[in-house]
Amino acid sequence: MNRNLVTFLLLALFLATSSVFGQSPKIEVEIAYQDGYNFFVANDLGRNGYYQQRPVAKMMGELAENIGIEFVAAAGDTHHWGGVQSVHDPLWMTNFETIYDHPELMEEWYPVLGNHEYRGNTQAVLDYSNISRRWVMPDRYYTKTIIPEEGDEDEYSTVKVFFIDTTPLIDKYYEEGDTYPDVFDQDTVRQLRWLEEELANSTETFKIVIGHHPIYVSEKKRVDEQSLIEKLDPLLRKYNVDLYVAGHSHTFQHLTKPGTNVNYVVNASASLGREPIKGPDTQFCASDEGFSVISVGKDKFKVTFINYLGNPIHQFEVVRK
Ligand SMILES: [Fe+2]
Repeated sequence: MNRNLVTFLLLALFLATSSVFGQSPKIEVEIAYQDGYNFFVANDLGRNGYYQQRPVAKMMGELAENIGIEFVAAAGDTHHWGGVQSVHDPLWMTNFETIYDHPELMEEWYPVLGNHEYRGNTQAVLDYSNISRRWVMPDRYYTKTIIPEEGDEDEYSTVKVFFIDTTPLIDKYYEEGDTYPDVFDQDTVRQLRWLEEELANSTETFKIVIGHHPIYVSEKKRVDEQSLIEKLDPLLRKYNVDLYVAGHSHTFQHLTKPGTNVNYVVNASASLGREPIKGPDTQFCASDEGFSVISVGKDKFKVTFINYLGNPIHQFEVVRK
């Protein structure tokens, strides 16, 4: 075969595979509102810097430098594979500290536990707040309220972010109790009662819930999570939550469902992606590794998916009329 033809065919094959496996087209959008309040959501991070963890971390730092962020929400699985043993586990260095080392990422990180943390010592993940100034985990579930500073009221609206602990809400982890022993110590009735009271009492303009496991997902390895459909989704719908962000699937997905205004986001993996499947409720999906930016403006917020190249690949806006 002609040498040029071989080169051409190899190049065509490379381009075809790179677009199928993890490189969505860049879109031209403004990621942040002018004078808005910005934060990142990243999850399924910790792989000792391997796969796309370092490139994604680099892009997080560069984008933070560009738009300015107030905090990072870490939606679980900061440590694969078996969580951490203690606050002194070396994985804190190799999965977190030395990877997210950009000066602009020295903001507060608000984490939730993922299933992989439940394979180890979950209390150590909370206690790491006493070691690292930027690791802020006051409890297994908690809230953070975004309130404009005096004089900024016309620039962005109030938001309540609810950080929740989804692993103990899912029945299958109890069936594998030897692997996930800490689930047995959790009072899920108490957590759900807490969430309902917090949602009912919230007077902020927007409500965002962040947990590790998606309620709905469309991909090869996983299906919709029946435990969360029964226990969590009714609360999101009843109290008009604007956005539910999860990880775990390692795919980017933006889903909407008939009969509710909740936007369901699956926030990729910040290290190793998988293939999604486009379903009937899929507004967008991609296998790119990456993270999301949430920018809050006045009576609106927008969510932008950013891939490992630093490119925006999907954006949607929620407006309060
Ligand atoms: Fe997970």
